[in-house]
Amino acid sequence: MAWEGVIKTYKEFLPVTDKTPIVTLKEGNTPLIPADRLSAKINKGLKIFLKYEGLNPTGSFKDRGMTMAVSKALEEGSTAIMCASTGNTSASASAYAARCGLKCFVLIPHNSIALGKLSQAMIHGAKVLAVRGNFDDTLEIVRDITSNYPVTLVNSLNPYRIEGQKSGAYEIVDVLGKAPDFHAIPVGNAGNITAYWKGYKDYKQAGKLSDLPKMIGFQAAGSAPIVLGHVVEDPKTLATAIKIGNPASWKSAEEAADSSGGMIKAVTDDEIIEAYKLLAGLEGVFVEPASAASVAGVIKYAAEGYFDDSQGKTIVCVVTGHGLKDPDRAIATAGEPEVIDNDVEKIVERLRLKK
Ligand code: F0G
Repeated sequence: MAWEGVIKTYKEFLPVTDKTPIVTLKEGNTPLIPADRLSAKINKGLKIFLKYEGLNPTGSFKDRGMTMAVSKALEEGSTAIMCASTGNTSASASAYAARCGLKCFVLIPHNSIALGKLSQAMIHGAKVLAVRGNFDDTLEIVRDITSNYPVTLVNSLNPYRIEGQKSGAYEIVDVLGKAPDFHAIPVGNAGNITAYWKGYKDYKQAGKLSDLPKMIGFQAAGSAPIVLGHVVEDPKTLATAIKIGNPASWKSAEEAADSSGGMIKAVTDDEIIEAYKLLAGLEGVFVEPASAASVAGVIKYAAEGYFDDSQGKTIVCVVTGHGLKDPDRAIATAGEPEVIDNDVEKIVERLRLKK
């Protein structure tokens, strides 16, 4: 049967009715890819899976929440939506708004979002303003404007975003037949860890799983307010998607980590880039740097002994956005191609091929 998108597939778990106009790009149903070479490299007997969210229609997990937020905005008679974004939320919001004729206003931190994401918001026809400030500043402005003007906020403070995003957890359990033992995830504004935890708990309540996973979240070390226990005024990291100093869902992220027996920890930019290269080179999975934070965290804490009693256990790493979102980073990391003459002999020689 053809995949119908997140809302139709999981409507019994979502706040929709038959009257909700469903705006969908058939998001969801992303592959859960076994990462056997990565598992072998980590060598703790863990079975690692990658939930490849970059394969959503706009290239990130945001589409799961956006189908809900935009459908509900339409149902409630809204004519315009607005978000602050490190890039992916704006790419998704602008696509779903285009699809149903809503206006879309986007505030991004100037010079701080990856090129692929910016190109998406522009081509879908959103009104994009690049603010001289950071993400936290832009979110503050969006909260202010959406509470004073007839514009619907579609950041993850909008509860429908969390509702849609929790579908990722349902899909994982539908494939594995149970929850994984560990669920590793990058943490930025902290909506996604909140959503997955809710999804697992829903499924437990519905009798679809018995044991909940330990939620382990990873922030970039230069933008790790939850780990540090205080707001970071000037967050820094090359993983621009999670360059956030004051996460909106801070408390619920802590709640997910604490009540599941998990943790939220930091990984450095070097560790993120190392994992980014490993995913691409060892597993053939191209993700954006922020997405690699989940894998970086698993590698780091495996080395520190965190998984020493985890022989045969499963871990799902959510890799949240596609690598093509940030082509500049890929080239900066892997280099430019060598240029050569249009000459078969020279090429054969350069490739060191022997008959
Ligand atoms: N990974 C990617 C690729 C993201 O774009 C984001 C967040 C996260 C992880 C973190 O998820 O915020 O739910 O904890 N991007 C937001 C945006 C902030 O505006 O696109 P989170």
